[in-house]
Amino acid sequence: MKGKRILLTGGAGFIGSNMLEALIRDNEVTVFDNFSNVDNRYIRKYEEDKHFSLHQGDLALPDSYKGLGKFDVVIHLAANSDVKNGAGDPGIDYRNNVEATFRLLEFMRKEDVREMLFSSSSTVYGETTVLPTPESYGPYMPISSYGASKMSCEGFITAYSNYYGFRSTIFRFANIVGKNSTHGVIYDFIRKLQKNQSELEVLGDGTQRKSYVHVSDCVNSMLFIHDRSQRTDIYNLGNPGTTGVKRIAEIVLQHMKLTDTRIRYTGGEEGRGWKGDVKVAQLDITKMLATGWKNTLDSEQSVVRATKETLSQMGIA
Ligand SMILES: NC(=O)c1ccc[n+]([C@@H]2O[C@H](COP(=O)([O-])OP(=O)(O)OC[C@H]3O[C@@H](n4cnc5c(N)ncnc54)[C@H](O)[C@@H]3O)[C@@H](O)[C@H]2O)c1
Repeated sequence: MKGKRILLTGGAGFIGSNMLEALIRDNEVTVFDNFSNVDNRYIRKYEEDKHFSLHQGDLALPDSYKGLGKFDVVIHLAANSDVKNGAGDPGIDYRNNVEATFRLLEFMRKEDVREMLFSSSSTVYGETTVLPTPESYGPYMPISSYGASKMSCEGFITAYSNYYGFRSTIFRFANIVGKNSTHGVIYDFIRKLQKNQSELEVLGDGTQRKSYVHVSDCVNSMLFIHDRSQRTDIYNLGNPGTTGVKRIAEIVLQHMKLTDTRIRYTGGEEGRGWKGDVKVAQLDITKMLATGWKNTLDSEQSVVRATKETLSQMGIA
């Protein structure tokens, strides 16, 4: 993507700040964020950059769009990204994901923005009977309000694309890991071990298996695929293999050089990390590969690289 005026929602966050880094040299980027999940630590360094501007506000509120400007493309990454929160307060997903996306689409319609990239999730599928799960799998039966909200966002995006002639690319992410993360399994393990090195609490029974993708592959594949996609379409973004939660715990302990730490599994309902956790998630990536995109790191390599990056950012290694 080059020479575009880009509105990047959620640009202060984990994936957003990595996306900003990928775009800033060749484009004009406006970050729209309300700093609800993270402060400005990852975007501070761009404050003086002439290609960067910041619009602080809540996407779910119509007034927040005043004075926003003109754009060629919207990259919509803002969301409540913490799947665990939903069971306690499903409204958080409705507001920050569904309502925010609806308001953003209304802005795009009124301002005639013609392209959108959207971060959806493997959670739209729910607990599937087909693994790896292709984009054509159905019926969708999300088991979390987060998954339900992403499913709803996808529907609004394809409907608006049809009504108003946007070209939208929807990406259903596997688990994304890497630098600037502020949540997720690797980050949580390291935070817990910073507080207590004698025991690591692991949510669930440790047998949960998911496919992990490094954030650099995530960001670059989104841009690569959107550039080559001719029409509104949906792509799974994942890796061929999966990595178990127990294995991630071992990798983190190894990189923190902790040999005597006891791992304590909370057990959870049916071994799940939390209510609404899909135990085994693996996406069929045939469609992604057919675009010519290939990730540079596999699932375990992504976990290892992310562990090193997170430890380094926390000043531990
Ligand atoms: N990290 C993953 O493994 C993963 C997997 C699947 C999908 N996703 C999706 O990718 C996107 C980015 O995720 P992330 O991991 O970088 O999350 P993140 O929490 O680090 O970033 C989300 C950003 O959105 C902002 N935000 C939230 N609600 C907002 C609102 N109402 N108005 C304005 N800004 C708001 C937050 O302040 C934050 O900076 C999200 O849509 C998430 O659902 C992430």
